[in-house]
Amino acid sequence: MKILVTGGAGYIGSVLVPQLVADGHDVTVVDKLTFGNNLKDLAGFTLHDRDVLDLEPDWLDGIEAVIHLAGISNDPMANFRPRDNFINNSALTGLLVYFCKQKKIKRFIFGSTCSIYGFSSEKMVDEQSPVSPSFPYGLSKQHAEYAISSVADENFRPIIFRQATVFGWAPRMRFDLVVNTMTKYGVCHGKISVNNPRLWRPLIHVRDLVAAYLLAIKAPDEVAGIFNVAAKNYTILEIGQEVQQALADNSLPCELEILDQEDPRSYRVNSNRAASVLGFEPKISIAEGVAEIVWKIGDAQQPQWHNPWFINAEVYRKKIIAEEKTYEMWKNFMVNLKNEFDNLKPSEWPQEGP
Ligand SMILES: NC(=O)c1ccc[n+]([C@@H]2O[C@H](COP(=O)([O-])OP(=O)(O)OC[C@H]3O[C@@H](n4cnc5c(N)ncnc54)[C@H](O)[C@@H]3O)[C@@H](O)[C@H]2O)c1
Repeated sequence: MKILVTGGAGYIGSVLVPQLVADGHDVTVVDKLTFGNNLKDLAGFTLHDRDVLDLEPDWLDGIEAVIHLAGISNDPMANFRPRDNFINNSALTGLLVYFCKQKKIKRFIFGSTCSIYGFSSEKMVDEQSPVSPSFPYGLSKQHAEYAISSVADENFRPIIFRQATVFGWAPRMRFDLVVNTMTKYGVCHGKISVNNPRLWRPLIHVRDLVAAYLLAIKAPDEVAGIFNVAAKNYTILEIGQEVQQALADNSLPCELEILDQEDPRSYRVNSNRAASVLGFEPKISIAEGVAEIVWKIGDAQQPQWHNPWFINAEVYRKKIIAEEKTYEMWKNFMVNLKNEFDNLKPSEWPQEGP
């Protein structure tokens, strides 16, 4: 199948794209490589190192399915510069959907988030439950879902994955996702902090999520709509305990520190629809995911654990600061341009009208 993946060089994409290529698909990735080219060891696919906002419609010629992962991918990044969050998550999705409709691409699969449920407390939510995001990230994903769903018809069959928080090792590693973060702190500092023990958070291993994407691209046209995609719901305390036990089983004992920090996100989701309609069957436990991270990265002396490059918001903050400097340069350029035009000699005045 000819598949275009946006954001394919990020955390999820760096596991998904090699799997799609290994399965024989003809894959094109559009990614502006914010976190580097995490597909550089992979051959047999096409990479456009570009912003999806600059997507050239020709890249969609012959494409049979689009998997849309590009965007601002957590709350701290979204809060840092909300305007960019709404552009990259909401507006960008609307533009991409428009191009896909123009090119008559039927299958569109979107990486949304369970965090759009907001604070649903003890109640288990399914795809029919109301969503109540109250911060830029969740709101922008809700707008993106609307941009997709509102134009669904018999020729445009979107599948929206409301993804649980992902964990596990990937070629593009992230240490800002709860299990991965706890693993890092347990290994490097001998202590895992549980910010709020009572809150609920559904989880999924990155390879189980990739398996769900593979099911979605194979699904018949009748299948469309929203799917929660989670392996299991845990309280934050349970997550801390599972990571602590997994580290102990790998001879890395650590203590749990229980805090009482506010967090507006707490939700328990039911993924029955993904199981019954798509055949989604997650397999990988927290213990296996933690053991693999430790095995891949090594002991606390390994620099990868400590490098801020693996925390999205740290990279993003620096990028925005650099972009603001570019904006200052652009403003200076305009002031200079005005001076240059003001001082044109009559012989240099343009002769033609606009
Ligand atoms: N990781 C999770 O736990 C999780 C959970 C729920 C939903 N999601 C969603 O899944 C998607 C993928 O998540 P991830 O963890 O792989 O994120 P990520 O931040 O690791 O990767 C996102 C990728 O998209 C690219 N990108 C961003 N904006 C772009 C643009 N305008 N043009 C081109 N490329 C762009 C980045 O360069 C990056 O490579 C995101 O949309 C995220 O919101 C992730």
